[in-house]
Amino acid sequence: MAQRTPFVGGNWKMNLDLARSTALASESGGVAAACGTVDVAIFPPFPYLAKVVEVLRGSPIRVGGQDCSSEKSGAFTGQVSAGMLVDVGCSAVLIGHSERRHGLGETDAVLAHKLGRALEAGLLPIVCVGETLEERESGRAHDVIRTQLRGTLAGQSPSPGSLVIAYEPVWAIGTGRTATPDDAEEAHRTVRQTLADLYDVRFSESVRVIYGGSVNAKSAAELFAREEIDGGLVGGASLLAEDFAVIVAAASAKGKARR
Ligand code: PGA
Repeated sequence: MAQRTPFVGGNWKMNLDLARSTALASESGGVAAACGTVDVAIFPPFPYLAKVVEVLRGSPIRVGGQDCSSEKSGAFTGQVSAGMLVDVGCSAVLIGHSERRHGLGETDAVLAHKLGRALEAGLLPIVCVGETLEERESGRAHDVIRTQLRGTLAGQSPSPGSLVIAYEPVWAIGTGRTATPDDAEEAHRTVRQTLADLYDVRFSESVRVIYGGSVNAKSAAELFAREEIDGGLVGGASLLAEDFAVIVAAASAKGKARR
């Protein structure tokens, strides 16, 4: 059985306000207690990061940015650098979420630079890949996953513990439609095979590969029961403290079983 410690991320996206962000962070006591058998990170909107970091001071829960710039510093209006995230106490960052790949047209080449900045700043990057519905229906899902991974990891030689890969089929994000555990597991095998080709088998067996797309308190345990699925990246359900705690508990149970 793999020794990988499960990982759960809560992506708050562009939701909540300052008061509700701090309230949600301060309700995470149960989640913090599970850390050890599971790694947990939350990704609040940029303006609330420093405050959430303050609320979680001393907690094992990581706080991360939902994106970072491909540039280090300078005249890049509206962008936030990896170094700035570290400066306010973040230790993780999402790279290539589909709402940026598809919503904002971010290419693999741009994402490779972002990944480089994140690694260089010492952040834990969660690299997101996943196909659209049209790509799945035309039988290209696995090619898309391979291409996005190769493109985003191009030129990088991370250690297996220094990044997490999230498989997030675009058609399952925010739609209430979850990939079946079989589909997700098959996609995760493609991720691992691609990592083995790019690096080596030891690397691919050590990296956490998590699933995202309408994970909720009901579906988490069934998904995480699969050997290949090392946890989840959770959007909507991470805004509900109780549901997020149930999801983290499901991943923690897997972490305990792996010890
Ligand atoms: P969802 O979002 O759980 O709301 O589908 C997942 C994600 O976008 O990471």
